[in-house]
Amino acid sequence: MIAYNDYLLEAVSASRIAGQYQKSRFASTLDIEMKGDKNLVTEVDKESERLIVEHLLSRFPDHDIVAEEGEYLQAGSPCRWIIDPVDGTTNYAHGYPWFCSSIALEIEGELVAGVIYNPIYDELFTATKGEGAFLNGNRLSVSSRMPLSNSLLGTGFPYDCATDQANNFANFIAFQKSARGIRRAGAAALDLAYVAAGRLDGFWELKLKAWDVAAGVLMVREAGGVVTTFDGSTYDIFNDRIVASNGLIHDSMVNMLASVTAGVAN
Ligand code: IPD
Ligand code: CA
Ligand code: CA
Repeated sequence: MIAYNDYLLEAVSASRIAGQYQKSRFASTLDIEMKGDKNLVTEVDKESERLIVEHLLSRFPDHDIVAEEGEYLQAGSPCRWIIDPVDGTTNYAHGYPWFCSSIALEIEGELVAGVIYNPIYDELFTATKGEGAFLNGNRLSVSSRMPLSNSLLGTGFPYDCATDQANNFANFIAFQKSARGIRRAGAAALDLAYVAAGRLDGFWELKLKAWDVAAGVLMVREAGGVVTTFDGSTYDIFNDRIVASNGLIHDSMVNMLASVTAGVAN
């Protein structure tokens, strides 16, 4: 039987191959298409995905793949890779150096390995189930900061925020008043890696996709943090409301989201 770490090492190789390519094309002229009003896809997203998928399938030809930019045959393998080739595409397309790739492996529906790689900083975040989370080989743990008023949070806004009421604006205002600060950096996978690393104390967002969160959710949990839905219930990566934190401020975050939903947040 293959150890989780053997899978992880192949995901690390794939993310380094993609990261080297992303760096080589960064801030160059790119072919860009629109997937929606605000949602871009560049040639680098597509080629990064091709490189990652090619590497993984060369090692594990019978595994299933779910990735943002392509459709892949689902053969019903118990092993499924979940891939965001470039998380932070808007940043990338604007030459704003804040993006990563995110690669996770599920076995029988359980997250067992995850890699998030920021090639600009050369920061490689990794996690395997039951074995912890690491940054460039150094073990990570979530912050011990509390209460919410002392905390730094991350979030983002959905691409359809101009046209759909579920836009995160009211939550943002409430947390901006109650927390020390909020960063809207533009790459949800890195936000989650930063919660795992204790650089952010909490993160929430809505309408994220499985490829945005799969690696990061495992990372936060393996670093000792907590991940739930907005109402505090069990989270799975196909749920579109996520709260991730160091655990210590989790109830405060869930309570704040409930107050906003109830229209009583101050
Ligand atoms: C996006 C980023 C962003 C988040 C968006 C995501 P993409 O992913 O993670 O931070 O706010 O909701 O869709 O499009 O850059 O892969
Ligand atoms: Ca993404
Ligand atoms: Ca993406």
